[in-house]
Amino acid sequence: MSTTTDIKGQPLDRAFLDGLLRRRLFYTPSFEIYNGVSGLYDYGPPGCALQANIIDLWRKHFILEEDMLEVDCTVLTPHEVLKTSGHVDKFADWMCKDPKNGDILRADHFVEDVLETRLRGDKEARGEKIEEKEESDAKKKKKKTKGQEAIKLDDEVVKEYESILAQIDNYNGEQLGELIKKYDLRNPATGVQPTPPVAFNLMFQTSIGPSSNLPGYLRPETAQGQFLNFHKLLEFNTGQMPFASASIGKSYRNEISPRAGLLRVREFLMAEIEHFVDPEGHKKHHRFGEVEDIELVLLDRETQLSGQTTLRKIAIGKAVKDGLVDNETLGYFLARIHLFLKKLGIDQSKVRFRQHMANEMAHYATDCWDAELLTSTGWVECVGCADRSAYDLSVHAKKTGAPLVVRERLETPKVIEELQVEIEKKKFGPAFKKDARAIETALLDTTQEQREKLAKELEENGKVILDVAGVADGKAEVGKDLLKIEFRKRTENVREYTPNVIEPSFGIGRILYSLIEHVYWSRASDGGDEARSVLSFPPAVAPTKVLVVPLSAKEEFRPLVRQVLQKLRAAGISSRVDDSSASIGKRYARNDELGTPFGITVDFQTIKDGSVTLRDRDSTRQVRADMDKIVSAIQTLVSDSKTWQDVESELPKFETQELEIR
Ligand code: ATP
Ligand code: GLY
Repeated sequence: MSTTTDIKGQPLDRAFLDGLLRRRLFYTPSFEIYNGVSGLYDYGPPGCALQANIIDLWRKHFILEEDMLEVDCTVLTPHEVLKTSGHVDKFADWMCKDPKNGDILRADHFVEDVLETRLRGDKEARGEKIEEKEESDAKKKKKKTKGQEAIKLDDEVVKEYESILAQIDNYNGEQLGELIKKYDLRNPATGVQPTPPVAFNLMFQTSIGPSSNLPGYLRPETAQGQFLNFHKLLEFNTGQMPFASASIGKSYRNEISPRAGLLRVREFLMAEIEHFVDPEGHKKHHRFGEVEDIELVLLDRETQLSGQTTLRKIAIGKAVKDGLVDNETLGYFLARIHLFLKKLGIDQSKVRFRQHMANEMAHYATDCWDAELLTSTGWVECVGCADRSAYDLSVHAKKTGAPLVVRERLETPKVIEELQVEIEKKKFGPAFKKDARAIETALLDTTQEQREKLAKELEENGKVILDVAGVADGKAEVGKDLLKIEFRKRTENVREYTPNVIEPSFGIGRILYSLIEHVYWSRASDGGDEARSVLSFPPAVAPTKVLVVPLSAKEEFRPLVRQVLQKLRAAGISSRVDDSSASIGKRYARNDELGTPFGITVDFQTIKDGSVTLRDRDSTRQVRADMDKIVSAIQTLVSDSKTWQDVESELPKFETQELEIR
């Protein structure tokens, strides 16, 4: 039950903003003239440019800064890979169905929505102030809701609901089913209770090739391709550890109920990093010192489990030292994610890092912190940062026999004394015939602990009985004459280990949409007509950097406009010309809506002395100088090496625009 405001503290009108973004073609529903398909969107020119700039920043901030190894792996993935990774069996959400109208509901979202609506109703019944956005939502919901009027709840019930909502991500299907029954949660559209939740696998299935005998899926994450290439990447990196791979590409999830525009879609761009680290030495990071003083806003697991959502601001160095964040590498990436979001222009008061609770964690993770951004739909997970331990490399190595390990030559060889199994080969084969191989493997696979027991058994009974899959009765009896289990010394020159993986995983569409909300505001217009929308993207991220406006349509302006454009192109600065007949104010306003940070006006003075004016989108203030000076000022602004205030202090101010003559 959250509401959010724009930069100026005004309630954000999501429907209005959404309309603007569609009208200005940031994005649009795919296949719209065929009535569209929910969860699928196309990006138009400003959306594409914005996405490309976010990716560019991401590449510089992570891949270049940390020498990561970028790969681009296929989307089509054979069944066997995703079966081994656990996705075929476990990559699912809980789904329930309304028996009356067939509505399919994602169980956790359904419980969340109904409880939030009841809490809103309670607030209304108590006469408490409901903020503007909440009120309009409540009104909308009331229209559709059967039997969910403004009803006052007992204080205890309010507490219970709030506690459930604080840990909503931690419930499994059965528990969600119990909540639905216990609180008699009904689908607002029909007033009927939905069926108990069942698991729904989110992967899109397909078959690869014409014979249909190679089943596959569209990948749900880019990570698997990176894991499967681990050994080649390690060699490429001349065997040096730690290192990270990175990948930017589309992933696909058959979401149960896509909603909220770009925030939950079925096809989306992901940027993922797999940082491979030696698990020995508690995952230290050699650059942790650079970030340890950075303060992050954290919501840890214990706080959520106690039914609270209290945030705490803490330096990442302290969070790791206190054990709140498990290790330096995880902490390092949380801080780097924070810096990336800041650079992008994300509102720092609308970022938190939330730790996953045990049930909510993906099957491969041992710990996970999400960077969540506050939007008009509430807190949204935009970056997941998981500790995947050695899970993925181990399962793929086990399945394929590929050496997904690191082998390190030891400076000082290690002498190890351990129980070793020795088989009397000559007698073993004839004694067990076709079962010999399986029994030998079972013996060699035993751990030191099991060998201790077997050695004792052999000593006491003159034989051991062990479980062996595939032999008669599943058991084999091996006598003293065929087997020795004894302590022996061996020298190890090489250390072999499976690296652990820390994985920051970015959903670019969610970040893009949240950023738009965070930089959106509306400006009262001079003429007093309706307020004009502005998207205050940082210059480096803005889809287009400069709007070029000729003050007049007269012929003599054309070569000057061409000259400005040519200089901007040569400097690598993107621009658009607006030489329409609209007033200059209107032309600025419609480019403020697109988030264009600077405007160059070619006016009558330009004809005389080649000077142009430069307008800053956010302050609307202007300076005037010759074209070259203005273009190099823009370069410094776009590369973030100067601020508008710097430019204003260096170049002459410009206050009055001449009259437009068309
Ligand atoms: P949610 O709980 O919201 O379904 P998730 O936990 O499944 O998300 P992850 O599996 O951690 O998400 O995915 C990594 C990142 O990919 C997320 O942080 C998010 O930015 C992005 N992402 C995941 N699912 C979607 C989706 N359906 N639409 C857009 N982005 C998504
Ligand atoms: N690769 C991380 C995720 O899919 O959640």
